[in-house]
Amino acid sequence: MARLRHVLLVVVMGSLVHAQGDETALECPYPEGQSVNSEGECARYSACQWNNGVCHMNSNSIAGYRTTAAPTPTPAGFQVMLEKVDQEVTLFDGDIQQLMFEVINHEEYHIQIKIYDPANARYEVPVPLNLPSSPASTSLAEVVVSPAGDPFSFTVSRVGASPGKELFKLVGPLTFEDQFIQVTTDLPSSYLYGFGENTHPSFRHTFTPRQTYPIFAKDQPVGEGFMAEYGHHPYYVVVDPDTGNTHSVLLFNSNAMEYSTFTLPDGRPAVTLRTIGGILDFHIFTGPTLEDVNKQYSQMVGLPAFPPYWSLGFHLSRYGYASTNEVREVRERMKAMGIPQDVQTLDIDYMERFRDFTYDPVPWGDLPALTQELHNDNLKLTIILDPAVVIDWDNYPPGQRGKDADAFIKWYSDIYIPSDQDPTCRDYVIGYVWPDTKTVFPDFFKPSTKAWWKEELNIFYESVAYDAIWIDMNEPANFGTNLDRPFNWPSELPDWSLKCPYTHWDSPPYPTKFIRVGDNESGRLSDHGMCMTVNHTDGVQNYMHYDVHSLYGWSETDATFKALQEIFPGKRPVVLSRSTYPGSGKYAVHWLGDNTSAWSHLKMSVIGMLEFNLFGLPMVGADICGFFGDATMELCMRWMELGAFYPFSRNHNAIGQTEQDPGIWPEVAEVSRFVLNLRYQYLPYLYTLFHAAHMHGNSVVRPLFSEYPTDLTALDIDDQFMWGTGMMFAPILTESTTSRNVYFPQGLWYHLVPGFLAATGPSTVLANAPMEAIIIYVRGGAILPYQEPALTTVESRQNPFGLTIALDESGSASGELFWDDGDEEHAMSETYFVTMTFAANTLNLVVSNNPAPMTGLNLETVRFYGYPADPALVTVNGENLDPSQWAYDADYSVLSVTMSAPLDQDVTVMLS
Ligand code: NOJ
Repeated sequence: MARLRHVLLVVVMGSLVHAQGDETALECPYPEGQSVNSEGECARYSACQWNNGVCHMNSNSIAGYRTTAAPTPTPAGFQVMLEKVDQEVTLFDGDIQQLMFEVINHEEYHIQIKIYDPANARYEVPVPLNLPSSPASTSLAEVVVSPAGDPFSFTVSRVGASPGKELFKLVGPLTFEDQFIQVTTDLPSSYLYGFGENTHPSFRHTFTPRQTYPIFAKDQPVGEGFMAEYGHHPYYVVVDPDTGNTHSVLLFNSNAMEYSTFTLPDGRPAVTLRTIGGILDFHIFTGPTLEDVNKQYSQMVGLPAFPPYWSLGFHLSRYGYASTNEVREVRERMKAMGIPQDVQTLDIDYMERFRDFTYDPVPWGDLPALTQELHNDNLKLTIILDPAVVIDWDNYPPGQRGKDADAFIKWYSDIYIPSDQDPTCRDYVIGYVWPDTKTVFPDFFKPSTKAWWKEELNIFYESVAYDAIWIDMNEPANFGTNLDRPFNWPSELPDWSLKCPYTHWDSPPYPTKFIRVGDNESGRLSDHGMCMTVNHTDGVQNYMHYDVHSLYGWSETDATFKALQEIFPGKRPVVLSRSTYPGSGKYAVHWLGDNTSAWSHLKMSVIGMLEFNLFGLPMVGADICGFFGDATMELCMRWMELGAFYPFSRNHNAIGQTEQDPGIWPEVAEVSRFVLNLRYQYLPYLYTLFHAAHMHGNSVVRPLFSEYPTDLTALDIDDQFMWGTGMMFAPILTESTTSRNVYFPQGLWYHLVPGFLAATGPSTVLANAPMEAIIIYVRGGAILPYQEPALTTVESRQNPFGLTIALDESGSASGELFWDDGDEEHAMSETYFVTMTFAANTLNLVVSNNPAPMTGLNLETVRFYGYPADPALVTVNGENLDPSQWAYDADYSVLSVTMSAPLDQDVTVMLS
């Protein structure tokens, strides 16, 4: 009640004054795109106005809503009823005349704002969120609504923040029609990050010229246009560089949408969000640091899965392996070259006629034997599965069993069933993907589908003992939708393809930019995918594909992860998914899709990786060396150097491209051995970061500004990145380059190898980057745990530990290490945790939790970077070391100490 009084007080003070003419910057959305630009066209939309050669939104007092009354308190916030100012004014018709504006105060740092039709329930996203059962009694943000009778407007601000720093501030009219919802907010700064899945040319968004990107899951290869790609993440983060305050906003909606970045007449940065269904459901997180918003967001959408240790090893993959023997050859090459590898991945090649849950009896007939060989070598096997299931019922038992379970997606209504429907397929939607036979698609929302899928995974596991599942094509993709024929349709057959009925779902009044960019041959929402007029059901509620299209990947990931939990009881599943939605991080590993062996794509992979860490999906990486196109040796070398430090590190290649596994060029093999050894060495640090991600929602890979939000240079850096707070990477991302400028934020920065001081920040330094090296730095103040590397993590996990201790200006450092058995269900396993501090010449390791997982493992090397002098005495746990056990390099200021201190107990090292 106190908060509401405060809200009302502010309303009376009338703080919702808008800059004159803001709406002139709000472009009217033409279905044809932005190219229609005449007064006559503009006149078709009464919500628009032609002015100075521009068609823009009419003012709020004409095209918007009005607040009808004072806010009414609710147990968790308040509500206000809105009504359309003028019932006749519209863009595409179907205006909802009365709307409820509702504020729900979930946590002190988390406010939900819903705008919905109180009279007729509309679609709301069925993905579960973790919301507290009782609301917070205080809030760090306040919501102000315009007074009763005024045009509707609202702001969300940090309590006590100055004007102009609002977290969300409605600009111009709100539009809420049945198939077109639009809202614009100005931003407290132009440091805007996030939104996806798109390929962004820079991590920080730009505002001039105006940019519009669509969001809607699509089998769309990585590219340089403004295209919607595989996942759907309407989530952004804003940093205010004056204060460092960071906040984030999720628009929890899954319909086709788009976002535009642009500036208002006075230069303020603004974002327009448009969606063509559902409701407006915002979740705003107040941070105030980037890591705070990462944690706050992840806690709500679901904390990231904890990857088993082996999955942090190197994965090798390609599309186009001809046989088990070819995999053996590649594997032998990796072994001969001494390149670490933990996982071998198989693409659709292993299947018989590209049918899920089969393997080709001829070139892949001994797949079970190959699996055993990999396991004997301490490697794991990942196999791919596609959603599409062939309708060859009599000859394909998994399909027949699926039909028995009624597991497949159906048309929303019988009226949509095509006249040539195969009578054996009931009312299922029939499409075509990789197999040479038409297919149906599982409805992963449905309990009987999940049960059937689990059973198929189980049955197939009996013959091929895979370790992880890769779920591909789950946007879902369908080839040739609405066209004459799919590109891979058998040439001997008459033309055929899945043709979607023409409806206002598939061709909505405003189809978003989705239909105008990328590979959209049919110019419809169903292009290259499923018709919008099909049905999904969770057994209780029906959903139209129009609404839940972008949740298909999420639903398949959920079903697959939970199935694997049963197939591998007590183990942590690994599910690699192409399509993702907020909350997918709970289950999924993600790769950034079909990129190209091009330098520009190498660069963009850093941005994608940073973005997915904002989306609560830290286990991410791009196809190392590029998917399409042939990689040159130099590109592949540089890509292995960077990719060795993707959280998810996998080299993957397309069919028909020349080989690019790291063993294929001796030079690349040597570099790969070096960088992957470094990765494996620091896996204990990476694993500890993933543990924090899983427990608290932290990111793993971070932009430099994560620690330096007021550093204007750092805020623009997207060709460097960090692992946690301790390691910084400065990869080479351009051809024929052997040096680069590296930006060092404030503090001391050391070369990871060999440990001398590289720079004192803030500064920019031209660094040498010979072909065979990626430059990696340690931040002064960090303690990085490591383990001697090995060819697999099974072996490296047995090796002695060490610490890299990089001293800050005060000669101190700190860090932590998490350890457990590596792949047991986290909640059930015994876990070890040690905090490490170095100050006043004393290193203290304090063990908490359970020491058992560390039994038998010793700390054997400790390297101090930036240590000022050769010590006279070193003691470990009170015992003097023999002087032969330490060495001081005065040129580098590096002190190396060897010892044998059991890590299952506290350790104290004193230097004097
Ligand atoms: C598309 C995936 O993105 C790619 O990684 C895979 O190789 C092909 N499908 C074939 O399965």
